[in-house]
Amino acid sequence: MPLKSRITGTGSYTPETILDNSDLAKKIDTSDKWITARTGIRQRRVVKGSETNSDLCLKASENALQSAGIKAKELDLIIVATMSGDQPMPSTAAILQNKLGAKSAAAFDINAACSGFIYGLTVADNFVKSGSYKKVLLVGAEVNSKFLDWKDRATCVLFGDGAGAVVLEPTGGKKGILSTHIYSDGSMWDFICLPGGGSNHPPTSKTIRDRMHYIKMKGNETFKVAVRTLEKLVLDTLKVNNVKPSELAMLIPHQANMRIIAATAKRLKLPMSRVAVNLDKYGNTSAASIPIALDEVVREKRIKKDDYVMLEAFGSGLTWGSALIKWG
Ligand code: ACO
Repeated sequence: MPLKSRITGTGSYTPETILDNSDLAKKIDTSDKWITARTGIRQRRVVKGSETNSDLCLKASENALQSAGIKAKELDLIIVATMSGDQPMPSTAAILQNKLGAKSAAAFDINAACSGFIYGLTVADNFVKSGSYKKVLLVGAEVNSKFLDWKDRATCVLFGDGAGAVVLEPTGGKKGILSTHIYSDGSMWDFICLPGGGSNHPPTSKTIRDRMHYIKMKGNETFKVAVRTLEKLVLDTLKVNNVKPSELAMLIPHQANMRIIAATAKRLKLPMSRVAVNLDKYGNTSAASIPIALDEVVREKRIKKDDYVMLEAFGSGLTWGSALIKWG
């Protein structure tokens, strides 16, 4: 039996500070009614003081390592999926490696925005399947609050901070990650972007004045592509694995918009009881949304051995991707 990778531990962490819709309505021209109706988001978590992305990674990773029953020093690879790392260089994964004391682990970051966890899972899965690494820590973590224009009501109401982590190990059996699928279309790169601070627009007083260091999004255009793309993606992923939609025990979608999640569930004819939803509590935590939701359903015992579990995401790039797992 060829090697597969299996998720042997999950963990998550979200910062303590809660910002709810009514807090935002006091600062900008928005309302709890608009945000809830258009997105499903009621509140989000934001970091306080000097709390960094790698601090969130550390707490989520410690939970995941504990649930896998392994020590940080046993890890041979750490991948952090993020678009809001501690600093451009070195990688947040390297900073996390030091904080964990995971001295034997190689470490690097992946940036595929909201699809980052699925991209990271694909890379980690292939390293494990090939026999290259035996204990891999994959973290999705974001401190979006530092990259939001708190005067732009079209974006600042959507995002939140948090981290989720998984440990992957090899297995020879039939369970584990059955397939992963990743895609991109760079022709729509400007639908969601953060234009300032890179080599195209290095930081200057003008880029700061022009608010180029904040996330920009063409929300409506993105929404339409996301719905269309995700509906096809989830059906294709099941087909490749010869699994019927009715056999799916749990869909764990990226948490961007309740209307996008509901449209995908409807296409699969899945009741919402079989869909993981937490965007009401955390907003869109980009690369962290899927591993946080996965950790929650595992700890709530909403998935059990042999269940088919689908993960799917869509985000800046544009990028999108999915994974089908036979849990256990
Ligand atoms: N409060 C009140 N009104 C608002 C707000 C707000 N916070 N934001 C926008 N509006 C207004 C707009 O100005 C507009 O007013 P107008 O009609 O007078 O011009 C109206 O509401 C409708 O705006 P739309 O942008 O068309 O609203 P829409 O229904 O599309 O919802 C949203 C916007 C929530 C952003 C939605 O389009 C969406 O979820 N898009 C997809 C996001 C996504 O999936 N992103 C991918 C992941 S993100 C990543 O990778 C980093």
